[in-house]
Amino acid sequence: LENGLARTPPMGWNTWNTFECNINETLVKQTTDLMVSSGMRDRGYTYVNLDDCWMTRSRDAGGNLVADPAKFPGGLKALGDYIHARGMKFGIYEDSGTMTCQGFPGSYGHEQADANLFASWGVDYLKYDNCHNDGTTQQDYIRRYSAMRDALQATKRPITYSICEWGYFDPATWAADVGNLWRTTGDITNNWGSVDAIYRQNVGLASAAKPGAWNDPDMLEVGNGMDFQEDRAHFTLWAAMAAPLIAGPDLRSASVATFSTYLNPDVIAVDQDPLGKQARRISSGDGLDVLAKPLQDGDAAIVLFNENSTPKTIATTAAAAGLPASASYRLTNLWSKELTTSTGAISATVPSHSTVVFRVKPGATGTSIGTTQPIQGASSS
Ligand code: DGJ
Repeated sequence: LENGLARTPPMGWNTWNTFECNINETLVKQTTDLMVSSGMRDRGYTYVNLDDCWMTRSRDAGGNLVADPAKFPGGLKALGDYIHARGMKFGIYEDSGTMTCQGFPGSYGHEQADANLFASWGVDYLKYDNCHNDGTTQQDYIRRYSAMRDALQATKRPITYSICEWGYFDPATWAADVGNLWRTTGDITNNWGSVDAIYRQNVGLASAAKPGAWNDPDMLEVGNGMDFQEDRAHFTLWAAMAAPLIAGPDLRSASVATFSTYLNPDVIAVDQDPLGKQARRISSGDGLDVLAKPLQDGDAAIVLFNENSTPKTIATTAAAAGLPASASYRLTNLWSKELTTSTGAISATVPSHSTVVFRVKPGATGTSIGTTQPIQGASSS
């Protein structure tokens, strides 16, 4: 959507993946503070987003949505002020049908009033869900999601618009003119099978992504129970796919390893690259995928992904990744930070359920010659 927003994929945190309906003002304030003190805000995680269950079961006598006073005693205008005072942005959730998925009032038929209320609270981001909707054709979807787009625009407040319609009716063909991002799959859960299946659905949609309009393979489960390699593979794949990086764990109890994954500046830079291209899969087979993402400065990010449960060697070339011919390429392993020089071959032994990601620069050299063999274990994913 050409509304000037989301020129790179949105980054932030959302309540749903860990807390579902158990949300409250204290949790959101503590998380906001942790995003500042941990360095997440300064790495780009600026949105603090409420998901479902923030409101009361019915509208007030005037037809307005009401924030649940037991969960948010200070109200959402004050919560937005708290978030803004810390240099962050405030996101909220609603639904395009008559009720949210958890049975709270939906915005159907109330689009402009609800958009106006959100704007008055200082909302900067709306995730708009798809439960209890009125129709089953692509036209119904476009109409419902466009109604809220127009309502948001009429508020004159810049509000990033996240379409949560789970990939129905080929959003790649229509959603780029309606929202800044659109879900391409059902809900993610905190296990490898879910992450891998969602990756496979989203990876083929690369041509639809561009600045202001992103495929959304759902929020991150990094820190929510997968092992360290799987967490890093999940993060790396989402960055390569130019996905929104919306963290989902309880940051108040997150480990050092979890923060180190979310904070990797080189992988974040791949996601946030201003060229705005989603990686293309340049080869696959036997659970071994190679992704290539062109970057603004002429580099490419190349991901070697091993879906198998044993380590495998994966090989490609700079030419296959679309890089120009050159006598040498510098490969930077974006997790281990190891630098190597290659004449064009790019290969690594990749642990199970894991990735190795290189930033490849034509015409440059690293500090050692040869094919990169990443360090096994913590630094290699
Ligand atoms: C379905 C969405 O896909 C989830 O991300 C979450 O927002 C829930 N609804 C909330 O009910």
